[in-house]
Amino acid sequence: MCGIVGYVGKKDCTRVLLDSLSKLEYRGYDSAGVAVFENDGIKISKTKGRLAALEQKLKREGWINGHCGIGHTRWATHGEPSDINSHPHTSARVSIVHNGIIENYQRLKGFLEKKGYEFESQTDTETVAKLLDFYFDGDPIGTIGKVISEIEGSYALGIMFSELPDTVYAVRKDSPLIVGIGEDEAFIASDVPAILKYTRNYYLLDHEEIVVLKDGKASVFDKHGIPIEKELHTADWDMEAAEKGGYAHFMLKEINEQPTAVKTTISPRITDGMPDLSECGMTTEKLAAYKNIFVVACGTAMHAGLVGKYVIEQLARVPVAVEVASEFRYRNPILSDGDLVIVVSQSGETADTLEALRMSKRLGADTLAIVNVKGSSIAREADMVLYTHAGPEISVASTKAYMVQIAVFYLVAFELAYAKQAISEEECRRLTAALAAVPELINVVLQQAEQCKYIASKLVNASNLLYIGRGLDYALSMEGSLKLKEISYIHSESYAAGELKHGTISLVTGSMPVIAVATQRELFDKTVSNVKEVKARGAKVIFVTHAYKTVESDVADFKIALPTTDDILMPIPAVVPLQLIAYYTSVLRGNDVDKPRNLAKSVTVE
Ligand code: F6R
Repeated sequence: MCGIVGYVGKKDCTRVLLDSLSKLEYRGYDSAGVAVFENDGIKISKTKGRLAALEQKLKREGWINGHCGIGHTRWATHGEPSDINSHPHTSARVSIVHNGIIENYQRLKGFLEKKGYEFESQTDTETVAKLLDFYFDGDPIGTIGKVISEIEGSYALGIMFSELPDTVYAVRKDSPLIVGIGEDEAFIASDVPAILKYTRNYYLLDHEEIVVLKDGKASVFDKHGIPIEKELHTADWDMEAAEKGGYAHFMLKEINEQPTAVKTTISPRITDGMPDLSECGMTTEKLAAYKNIFVVACGTAMHAGLVGKYVIEQLARVPVAVEVASEFRYRNPILSDGDLVIVVSQSGETADTLEALRMSKRLGADTLAIVNVKGSSIAREADMVLYTHAGPEISVASTKAYMVQIAVFYLVAFELAYAKQAISEEECRRLTAALAAVPELINVVLQQAEQCKYIASKLVNASNLLYIGRGLDYALSMEGSLKLKEISYIHSESYAAGELKHGTISLVTGSMPVIAVATQRELFDKTVSNVKEVKARGAKVIFVTHAYKTVESDVADFKIALPTTDDILMPIPAVVPLQLIAYYTSVLRGNDVDKPRNLAKSVTVE
């Protein structure tokens, strides 16, 4: 949802801004722009399209030479992608870039129009540029303080005042912003990868804190101008982690990183063969006391929660409700003191998930966050945090983050089941050991990439697809279906296999391929019966199951053979071919795999 950057230092600012923005393009990529102080004032270049279009424009129309500036890559919310709607937005004395949504912009715009301001764009952001101009009295921090007390919504703002050369100001609320600290240079950025080429050191900016970048240094103030000491953080991954490393796409790299990501996420949480979540303050006693669990998340993270639900309910016999955050937050859910709300988020910034978390806290529930990005809003606001150590996930379509989210759910389920005495210590140890062994299984499935590519070549011209499964396989089907549609643009739906004949099977013809997942041995025969029903109606079937299971030709056209582990852990190897099939289908259709249309990585608006 838009990426913003800012730089003050000795380097070619335009170059630094473009390089940094290139690491944030996953946040939005329908237009881009920069504003840089040149000798005689602020110069702006912006355009509809990708960052590459901006760079070409700068080369064509003249590079902006300076050492201080701000930049933006956009995911349109208010107003179509166009040159005019691109950031930076300006007023006579102010240039700004913005990530977020100003909810009361219409009212503020009306007020400013009465004061004689004229607007050229359809954006909410331009209102902030004009409001800053309206209040500007020579005191930048005081002006920003006044403006943020009037605007409602979410924002990370990079600001330059033309009367205050070579200085960048920034402020945030509910949209992420970090402050990079280099040698004689300082940065602002929506995310850490943007600064990694230059420094690994950064501050996390809190709500309504104002940072001033000047003379290569960063100083932080509260909105009343009182200086604030910030803790310096160091990114624990480097440029290499944020680069493609020889892979054609980030998505493929991230799929291949899954064995390591799972290992790094679970190893520190296994002590003497038993799951151990004490690092986040979650004790066995505390776990045992929860009566209800809610999992609240969006998209792929919500699908990870569905796997969590099956596993927790099956092993621990504690009821788990999985809720889409955008619904949960508005439906006055019944929550109380003895409940645990688990929020799941790769970015830790998803607006709906963050608000659901805040609401759960207000209603008295304990909150546990499963989050990938350190220091993100959700991580900071939850009562307890379990970080998934997946490293940066750059591809918009989530793969390794999902994998580590489900890995954490297994640990939670095992410890909870043991705490509730629903499983013995011996069983808990057995399951934990099986979980520790799954990275090897993922490696085995990754060897089947060529077969997945072949299957993708058979799907590439389909207009519709069905994913079916039962139990855990149904949860997995939902993720397989989402992955395919978001990057290949082929419509697909996931169905509980047994539910098909209640309506949806009327869609099945020879031009509707079906991907059936059947890893749960207790349900295997039932799923096979459902698959035969679609096969009998002409569907081509791709059947994902254990390698040792014999699959007759009247059941499947293609079989994907999975290495076997405990049934409850089968989602881990089984999701990999679904990811690979989606990936190769997208590649074969010539799509921009890592940056699918209309999407952005971090959804900081509701
Ligand atoms: C799909 C995908 C999204 C995210 C969702 C939540 O591949 O990535 O569905 O899972 O937007 O994002 P986070 O996990 O950052 O809260």
